[in-house]
Amino acid sequence: DVEPEVKWLGTPIRELKRMPECGVPLSPLKDIPDQHTVMIRTDRLQNGNAPVPYPAKFSDTWDDVHVKMPWSIRNLFPVVDKETQEVQNKSRWALIEESLNSKFTSPLELKNAILKYNASHAKKWDFTALHLYCTKVLEPDAAEHLFDSLLPDMVQLALRASELCTKPIPLLKRGMNLSITMSQEQVACLLANAFFCTFPRRTSRKTEYCNYPDINFFRLFEGSSPKKVEKLKTLMCYFKSVTEQKPTGLVTFTRKSLDKPVNWKSSQTQLTKLHITCVGTIEDDGYGMLQVDFANQFVGGGVTASGLVQEEIRFLINPELIVSRLFTEVLGHNECLIITGTQQYSKYTGYSQTYQWGGSHKDTTPRDEWHRRCTEIVAIDALQFKSFLEQFRPEKLNRELNKAYCGFARPEEQRQNLAAVATGNWGCGVFGGDTRLKALLQMLAAAEAGRDVAYFTFGDSQLMTDVHNMHSFLTQRKISVGEVYDLLGQYYSSVCKSCLSRRPDVSLYSFIYQQVSSSLAPK
Ligand code: AR6
Repeated sequence: DVEPEVKWLGTPIRELKRMPECGVPLSPLKDIPDQHTVMIRTDRLQNGNAPVPYPAKFSDTWDDVHVKMPWSIRNLFPVVDKETQEVQNKSRWALIEESLNSKFTSPLELKNAILKYNASHAKKWDFTALHLYCTKVLEPDAAEHLFDSLLPDMVQLALRASELCTKPIPLLKRGMNLSITMSQEQVACLLANAFFCTFPRRTSRKTEYCNYPDINFFRLFEGSSPKKVEKLKTLMCYFKSVTEQKPTGLVTFTRKSLDKPVNWKSSQTQLTKLHITCVGTIEDDGYGMLQVDFANQFVGGGVTASGLVQEEIRFLINPELIVSRLFTEVLGHNECLIITGTQQYSKYTGYSQTYQWGGSHKDTTPRDEWHRRCTEIVAIDALQFKSFLEQFRPEKLNRELNKAYCGFARPEEQRQNLAAVATGNWGCGVFGGDTRLKALLQMLAAAEAGRDVAYFTFGDSQLMTDVHNMHSFLTQRKISVGEVYDLLGQYYSSVCKSCLSRRPDVSLYSFIYQQVSSSLAPK
């Protein structure tokens, strides 16, 4: 008898809650000043029809609390008259319209069109990846289709901006608790503008938007890495889909900060259920759960440049996520961004260097009453650790616990209506964190938030066993969140603080087993 290989441990995944089944009916969607900006007519929402933009006419705003739109009449560029030396301001949008409306038939012409209204960057921007994609990757037929059909459609979509995105988009600034709901069509229009690099003041890091992620796609076109080509394939699949068939749903972006700090030490909360598996992914197997984005403080990280790990991949297969970069200021320690309703347009294989676009994906996720796909993603950025021991410092533990809790907790909702958290090795890839510590911290935060956990170890079966054993050990002995927190503190002061080598002599989990067993043993 050979024992079948163990793929999962703990609670069967079917016992964990998912949306829409676990949720309660939503209150009607409405625009609430300073709380929720809704960019469409809520009274005219109809299944299967594209939502109607609100207001009917573009309301032009050019200030430091809203996104500066390319189609604003205030978007100007100076032109020096060669004879008189006089400086005149001209409409940049008119120039954008003119250069994008001129038919381009090659990557070079596309590049020149983009550079016409980005003249100051003409020398720096490199379009090698775009060139490779058009000439070496696409078959001649497909390249022809790109220039004859897809790009013209994308231009039309981008240039419809002033009729589609009529309401000023508030910047989600540090410390704000604010939601924005827009249609998938509006998102597509904004992303088409990002593709053609039309957003003003967003191409130099030193300007007023230095605390915002990049939105214009210029870095996606540079270099000759095969990764760039795969990224382009993935994004072009999205643009093909939304230009061939208008998406009809809505997406909500919510910036949220921790309302009141948790007193971790005194928490008597018991751990919640854990399903842990070494197969599957957050996005495939965590459907309907609260899915964690292993984020950068600048949401989306390197998605429009060269990054290609968990966050960037998610933003590529669900490109509507990318629009959050337009208005989300860098996340603070007590903040997260929640994105509800994005759709998956592509499949993929591989990861990082081996990432490949895997063809188009038909997303069949049901929609909620607000016409959003029941896909809730939370961007929480872990700390990056250069030295291993640093992450066990009490102030770092607090920071990570509060960050995760901010992402998981929904104090306005009943616990029985909360879906499980679908997560994994948050902060433990590029950011260098310890998986065993992070798994424990996320279990504490989820417990405090009243959610069960589905944990995907991404192929690591030893981690699956270790975390499962720890979870069983703690729950069997009814060790509370506060007690685990206290053990973490003890581990720091008695093992890490005095440690002279790079790594502690005693692992966190063996320390916890020892401490708990000796304190429970009869004296
Ligand atoms: N499902 C489950 N687990 C996954 C998946 C998935 N789809 N993909 C990866 N993992 P990483 P970080 C596991 O390095 O350390 C980005 O640039 C896999 O074990 O993306 O928090 C951001 O923008 C992987 O090693 O997250 C930030 O700048 C681990 O999750 C930075 O990376 C961590 O993935 C964040 O780095």
